[in-house]
Parts: sequence; structure tokens; C-alpha cells
Amino acid sequence: MATEYFFSHRHILGIDHLSVDDIDHILNTAESFKEISARPIKKVPTLRGNTIINLFFEPSTRTKLSFEVAAKRMSADTFGISASTSSATKGETLIDTARNIAAMHPDIIIIRHSFSGSPHLLSRHVNAAVINAGDGTHEHPSQGLLDMLTVREHKGRLDGLKIAIIGDILHSRVAHSDILGFSRMGSEVFVYGPATLIPMDLDTLGATVCSSLQEVVEDADVVMTLRIQKERQDDPLIPSFREYALQYGVTRQVASWAKPDALIMHPGPINRGIELMPDVADGPRSVILEQVTNGVAVRMALLYLVMGNS
Ligand code: CP
Repeated sequence: MATEYFFSHRHILGIDHLSVDDIDHILNTAESFKEISARPIKKVPTLRGNTIINLFFEPSTRTKLSFEVAAKRMSADTFGISASTSSATKGETLIDTARNIAAMHPDIIIIRHSFSGSPHLLSRHVNAAVINAGDGTHEHPSQGLLDMLTVREHKGRLDGLKIAIIGDILHSRVAHSDILGFSRMGSEVFVYGPATLIPMDLDTLGATVCSSLQEVVEDADVVMTLRIQKERQDDPLIPSFREYALQYGVTRQVASWAKPDALIMHPGPINRGIELMPDVADGPRSVILEQVTNGVAVRMALLYLVMGNS
């Protein structure tokens, strides 16, 4: 007899904590919410009376705005502070910040922070549900989920696909969430990048490291390039951006090695002309803006599901 599924997560801290059923359920819920964003009046009362606080200690365009849009489309009250306008600039610790915010009784706290593990720390000090919007080089679960939703919409499935991820895997929380998520859902994930930007223990996450750009892209269903994270490279780990573009940049020719219907993806923001050439980023196989659209639906689903478990 089939057991009844129940989404049991109070917090969304990483893809690592999500089962195949959880991921399927989040993607199905997101898919059902997409229609709301296409209505003339893009608002439902689902989270009316709920308070959501956005704590973004690192810059963000897509994630911050789409969590805000998602919350407002579900009628929640949203508030936010950034690192530069918070008392963190006066030396207040993250835990003190968390306790003070918790004293205002929010229902959900969304956090992006340069410290890997900050959402996990926060979740131990507040009663609110905590959603990780990107922690250091660790995970970016909502990005991993919106990437999976985008691929599933186009391919009709996630199992048996070849996902090629190219670039700075070492610093990329997106890559870590994507590797965990896609491999958990039955895709085969292959990565390639400069040796200095490939972590040693990648196979434990479920990815195969390739030795050439052709090897990683050949017959891929999805070609995902990652942003070179200039802000996380105090010591240069690549010789120059020009050299990087020549050796690892995805050009039209590189993209042609993938399957004819392969999707071109990038989490954004794009360093145009470095990891991805503009004609590929804006070409007919690019789904980069669909990723952004799906980001709103996935974040609506996450807010809805964690509130269901308050
Ligand atoms: N993909 C992503 O996290 O983009 P932002 O940094 O703009 O949020």
C-alpha cells in the first residue's frame, strides 16, 4: 500500500535535506502557482497576515526581488534590510540580529549571507521558518529548484538527462545545489572548469569531473555555465578573464557539441563574453529568462510549503 506523502520541512536550508518526493512536490506546487503570475490581478490571499523578512547581507537582484514578488503575490507582508543598512555595520552579531528580528514575530526569515551555514545557525535561534537564499559557497536551494523546474518543463523529466556544468564549481553554491538536486532526481551531472576551481571531493556530491570542454558538453541535454565569482577570488585562481574565455567560455561552436535541443542555462548575473558569449546567452536555446520567471513560482511554493508546517 502506498504511504501518503507529507511535506515535513520547517526550514529550507539546502537541497541536501530534500528527498526525491520533496523535490517533486515542490516542483509540482510551483508549477501549479505559475498560473497566478499570468493573471491580470496577480494576487491570492494564501499568506495574508504572514510576515516575511528578507535579510540580504550580500547583493542580489533575482533572488531578493523574486522572493519579494512571490510573497506579495501571496498577500504576505514583506520587509527587508541589507547589510549596509543594518546594525551589522555597527558590529552586531548574526545571532543578535536574528534574536532581535525574532522578537518582532516574523513567520518566515529569508537569508543570504557570505558565511556558509548562516541559515542553519539562524534556524537554531528563531521560531520563524528559515529559507536559505544563498550561503557562502555552500548552497542556493531555491536556485537549484528553479533550475530543475525549468529543465523538467522542457524535457518532461529529470531522470536520464546529461547535465553539463562549466566554470567555477569551487565557489558556486548554485553548482552545489544543482549537482545535489539533479543527481538526486536521476540526471547524470558532469562538470568542467579550471583545476583550481574544481573541489577535490566532487564525486561525493554525485558529479563526474571531465577533462575537456568537448567531453563535458558532448551530447548534453543541458549546458549550464557559471559566473566567475570575482568577489570570492582574493588570490587569482585563473590566469586572466581573457584566457578563461578562450579556454572555458561557451561559444556557439561549443554549444553545437551538445544535443540539438540542448538548453543553455545560467543562474545570472552573466559575465557576458567571459563564461558565456552574448549570442549564446540570447540565442534560441537559451532559457535564462525562463529560469528567472520560474524563480517566482518556486519561491511562492517554498513560502507556501514552509507555512504549511509552522
Ligand atoms: N542567481 C542569483 O542568485 O542571482 P542574484 O545574485 O541576482 O540573486
